[in-house]
Amino acid sequence: MLEAEPRAHLYLRSAHRWALVAFDGAGRTDAADRLATGTYVASVVVALAGEGELDDADVQIAVATLADARDEPFDAARFDLHRTVCSSSTLLELPPLVACEIQLRLLVQLGIATEVSLWRTDGANIDAVVSVGHGAESRRARATAKAALRQGTILSLLGPRTLRSAVVRRFRNPCAAIVARVLEPLARSDAYLGATAAAISTVFERELLLERSAEREQVLVRSSEQRLMRVGFDLHDGPIQDVLALGAEVILLRDQIYPFIAETHRERAAGRFDDMIARVTELDRHLRELSRSLESRSIVTRPLGEILHREVDAFAERSGIRSRLEIRGDPEAITSAQRIAVYRAIQESLSNVREHSGASSVEIHVRMRRSAIEVRVTDDGHGFEVGRALARAAQRGRLGIVGIGERVRMLGGTFEIDSAPGGPTMLTFALPRVTSDERNTFL
Ligand SMILES: Nc1ncnc2c1ncn2[C@@H]1O[C@H](COP(=O)(O)OP(=O)(O)O)[C@@H](O)[C@H]1O
Ligand SMILES: [Mg+2]
Repeated sequence: MLEAEPRAHLYLRSAHRWALVAFDGAGRTDAADRLATGTYVASVVVALAGEGELDDADVQIAVATLADARDEPFDAARFDLHRTVCSSSTLLELPPLVACEIQLRLLVQLGIATEVSLWRTDGANIDAVVSVGHGAESRRARATAKAALRQGTILSLLGPRTLRSAVVRRFRNPCAAIVARVLEPLARSDAYLGATAAAISTVFERELLLERSAEREQVLVRSSEQRLMRVGFDLHDGPIQDVLALGAEVILLRDQIYPFIAETHRERAAGRFDDMIARVTELDRHLRELSRSLESRSIVTRPLGEILHREVDAFAERSGIRSRLEIRGDPEAITSAQRIAVYRAIQESLSNVREHSGASSVEIHVRMRRSAIEVRVTDDGHGFEVGRALARAAQRGRLGIVGIGERVRMLGGTFEIDSAPGGPTMLTFALPRVTSDERNTFL
């Protein structure tokens, strides 16, 4: 359901939109037309690269198409395409390792280099963090990176081909070096490497800011989870115990007054007592369920896929609503704050489906994309007027949906609820990926 529209169609539509913006912005002249063409081609390349689907042939075709459409030399089209693609925020905002790899690969795909590696230093050591091409992490490449970091960009001749390097800075401090075995004249190669180094600087600077906000975010999430857990314990120690005691008292009362009830009324009285005991038992069950659902330790320690399946299965059993959970991609490669947000949001959405929707089936899709974690909960119930219902719920202090929105926003994500009387209801949210699979290398 997340893929109702073919991907290529989406890419092209968004590329077209950007091209029109460029055309209008640049004044609708011939020059504007050339700019729009460049924007169009670059947007498609960016979309493919962002999804990890860009191959060498795509890049060659893109450059050739651009050169042809604008009637300009291949080299000019190629440089322009590289400049636009490598500074695209869509690519720079991907998880750091993924973003860096795309940048290096682009140099190879454009025919600027055969091997490229990125070397990072913490001051004392230097390590290759990403590389593209066979043998890119050679000893010579390491030595070149080291020398570059010591004295700025250097040149190191090596047989007929040449190793070039460029320094990457993070807030002005050199922190990494790109080393490439280049195929093009040196000045031209250096121009490409310089643009790539600037792009990677942006990735590293963003990474540092993200790390800092991730720390703050962890603190926030931890404190709100702790509060929830405390409510869970309070519930267990207070109301649940009171309900237990109440149940025992009702039973005692029944036994005590039974002998004093006239025989003709006994059966009715017994029925009333049974009803009351059943209600107290039900109340006890509800409170225990609530108390358990507030406990969050297992959300962080158990695999997310497992706890989501467990939650959804338990929901289906309790509610009798047909439920399907589909997870695409590896759900474990996310931060604990994100796991908690995903879990809680799904939990709350399901409880709304049970309480308000009248649905007979619900589908939960979790999709781990390179740039974001997307979750969609769709029920086939009677729907509702979103604005009105939320205003009313807020007045009554009901913060289910508002709470999901807050959690998601706290993690820099987006949240949307799409419904109307008659249904269906679709709740969607996306959290930006801040880590790639190899998250520990960078964080
Ligand atoms: N899946 C749904 N189907 C129909 N109505 C819904 C659904 N989810 C939420 N609602 C409506 O939105 C309101 C607000 O939901 P929420 O913020 O979770 O508060 P609460 O569930 O405590 O009422 C609900 O009272 C209900 O009217
Ligand atoms: Mg609710």
